[in-house]
Amino acid sequence: MRILLLGPPGAGKGTQAKLLKEKLSIPHISTGQIFRKEMADKTELGLFAKQFIDKGELVPDQIVVDIVRERLGHDDCNEGFILDGFPRTETQAVELDALLTEMNLKLQAVINISIPEEVLVHRLSDRFTCKECDAIYNEKVDKCIKCGGDIYTRADDSPQVVRERLQVYNNRTQPILNYYARQNRLQEVNGNQTVEEVLQEIMKIITKH
Ligand code: AP5
Ligand code: MG
Repeated sequence: MRILLLGPPGAGKGTQAKLLKEKLSIPHISTGQIFRKEMADKTELGLFAKQFIDKGELVPDQIVVDIVRERLGHDDCNEGFILDGFPRTETQAVELDALLTEMNLKLQAVINISIPEEVLVHRLSDRFTCKECDAIYNEKVDKCIKCGGDIYTRADDSPQVVRERLQVYNNRTQPILNYYARQNRLQEVNGNQTVEEVLQEIMKIITKH
C-alpha cells in the first residue's frame, strides 16, 4: 500500500503515520524526521537544512526530492510506504509522480487531514519530541518511553515559527491539494477528532483499495 498523508503542520500526519506503519507493516517516511536526524547528527545536510527549518521555511525542492528518491529505492519500500510531509510544493508533487512512473508504481491513497488553524497552534505548543526516534509526547517526560532518548521542544514549534510555518503551508503547500483534486485523487479526513477516530477514517479509505 502506497499512502500519501497531506495536511498542515500539527494536523496529525506523524501521529497517524506511526499507527499506520504498525498496522500495515510498511515504512513511515517523514522528510521532516529525516532532516531532524541529520540536524541532530550535525551532518552537512543537517546544518544546511537547519537554516530553513528553524525559520519555518521549506528546504529547497531538489534536495528533498533527491532524499525521497534515494529512500524509496530501499528494499523495505517494496510492499509500500507512508509519505508524511512530502510533497509540499507543486514541483515536489510533479517530481514524485515522475519518480513513481519511473518505478512503475502508483499512489493508492492521497489523504488530506484537515483541521482548523486555532487547533493546530494549540497542539504544536503542547508537543515534546524525542531526539532519537521522533516519538511525540503531549506532556514533559524525562526520557523517551520508547527508546530512552532525550526529549526536546522542536525549535520550529515556537509560536513565532509556527505562524511562519502556517503561512508557508497556506502559500506553498495548500495549492497542491488542487493538484490532486483536479485528478480526482484527493480524499479528505477530518483531523479534528480523537486520534483513534481519525485512524478509523483513514483505514476506511485504505481498505477500499
Ligand atoms: P515536518 O516534520 O513535516 O513538520 P510539519 O509538516 O510542519 O508537521 P508536524 O510534524 O509539525 O505536524 P504533524 O502533522 O506531523 O502532526 P503530529 O502528528 O506531530 O517538517 C518540518 C520542517 O522540515 C518543515 O517546516 C520544513 O522546513 C522541512 N521540510 C520537511 N519536509 C519538507 C519538504 N517536503 N519540502 C521542504 N521542506 C521540508 O501532531 C501534532 C500534535 O498534535 C502532537 O502533539 C500530537 O500528539 C497531537 N495530535 C495529533 N493528532 C491529534 C488528535 N487527533 N487529537 C489531539 N491531538 C492530536
Ligand atoms: Mg510530523
